[in-house]
Amino acid sequence: MVDLIVGLQWGDEGKGKIVDLSAKNYDVVIRSQGGHNAGHTVVVDGKKYALHLLPSGVLNPNAVNVIGNGVVVYPKQLIKEIKNFGEEIKSKLLISDKAHMILDHHIAIDQAREKLRGKNAIGTTGRGIGPAYADKIARVGVRMGELKNIGKLLEKLAAYYEMNKEYFRYLDIKTPDMNELKEELNYYKEEIGCLITNTTQYLWDNMDKNMLLEGAQATLLDIDHGTYPYVTSSNTIASGALTGSGIAPKNLNKVTGIAKAYTTRVGNGPFPTEDLGKTGDRIRKQGGEFGTTTGRPRRCGWFDVVAAKYAVTLNGCDEVAIMKLDVLDGFEKIKVCVGYEINGSEIDYFPSELENVKPVYVELDGWDKSINVTEWKDLPQNAQKYIEFIEEKIGTKIKYVSTGADRNATIIR
Ligand code: IMP
Repeated sequence: MVDLIVGLQWGDEGKGKIVDLSAKNYDVVIRSQGGHNAGHTVVVDGKKYALHLLPSGVLNPNAVNVIGNGVVVYPKQLIKEIKNFGEEIKSKLLISDKAHMILDHHIAIDQAREKLRGKNAIGTTGRGIGPAYADKIARVGVRMGELKNIGKLLEKLAAYYEMNKEYFRYLDIKTPDMNELKEELNYYKEEIGCLITNTTQYLWDNMDKNMLLEGAQATLLDIDHGTYPYVTSSNTIASGALTGSGIAPKNLNKVTGIAKAYTTRVGNGPFPTEDLGKTGDRIRKQGGEFGTTTGRPRRCGWFDVVAAKYAVTLNGCDEVAIMKLDVLDGFEKIKVCVGYEINGSEIDYFPSELENVKPVYVELDGWDKSINVTEWKDLPQNAQKYIEFIEEKIGTKIKYVSTGADRNATIIR
């Protein structure tokens, strides 16, 4: 049985908390796309860990963690995370031999391109994600399995650097010293070589186990269905998780979509309900909306049901979790976007192009306090109405409502 957790907005919805809540129910936890651009903080026995590449199953001492073929792996970061978390994690960690590798030059290209784009920058995390996926699609990428034969890999990389030397010069990036690169690759092999395997076959062989596909980034950052070009470079939606792991669609049991009770976004790109005034500031402050990976302040605004409905449909969500409801505590009125205005006419669907879209709002009454409420019946009436309003609009059961950072501050309906 395979369940899937996916973000419904522009990321940072709090997927980690729902994964953490349910991690104990799973024998295998799988990352299937993205790389160390993702990030969430977890607390284990009072110690804080920032996870970027390690799947959240590391929280469950019995679960096997799989880094699937669709992930782009920066070995340096992965080794750092393993060392930080404890080497014993290696006994329950598998890395796909088909996953592509991020090398230092991908990071340099990402950052140089962003600089060149100036005011048109995507606002990437600068982790080399786009350039690594670009090489994968152009069929010149390096796969983790190639660490098995470093001599051959070095030859391939030397040809790659030769082919791209003008481009590197244009971006003012140095090609690596091949001796240093050899040392680096040998270090990767020594540290994580034994974890690299055919994870697709492993997953097929263990289909009788309970598995969780843990999404990274989120629906509106999907390379095909998100707000292109202001997106990440992978398919972040449910179907992408299947490609990124090798699990067949028929094996998917349940899809849980995660959304915040409001909306945030990091990086550039359209965001219809963004509030650049006091409301946005208040949400940012109350919600602690600063990035885990880059520390950037997040852009904030009201909940957008048009975008949420689109995301629920794309992912085929069976249920939804609404996170951080308590951040809206104390607002007298709460707005919800229920449509968009484009060139004077109103639409209720998510268009392929979001520029020049204006949100159409309805206003609901706010509530005083929902923080740390654990039972639906104890939630203020207006907070209940807010959740029911969203539920009705997106046509999907809201199964979880999170009312605080603590694991227990969760209403299960
Ligand atoms: P990249 O994934 O680093 O190429 O960045 C592309 C876009 O995706 C930028 O707007 C980033 O801010 C955004 N992004 C990437 N990873 C995350 C994430 O984990 N949470 C939220 N936004 C992300």
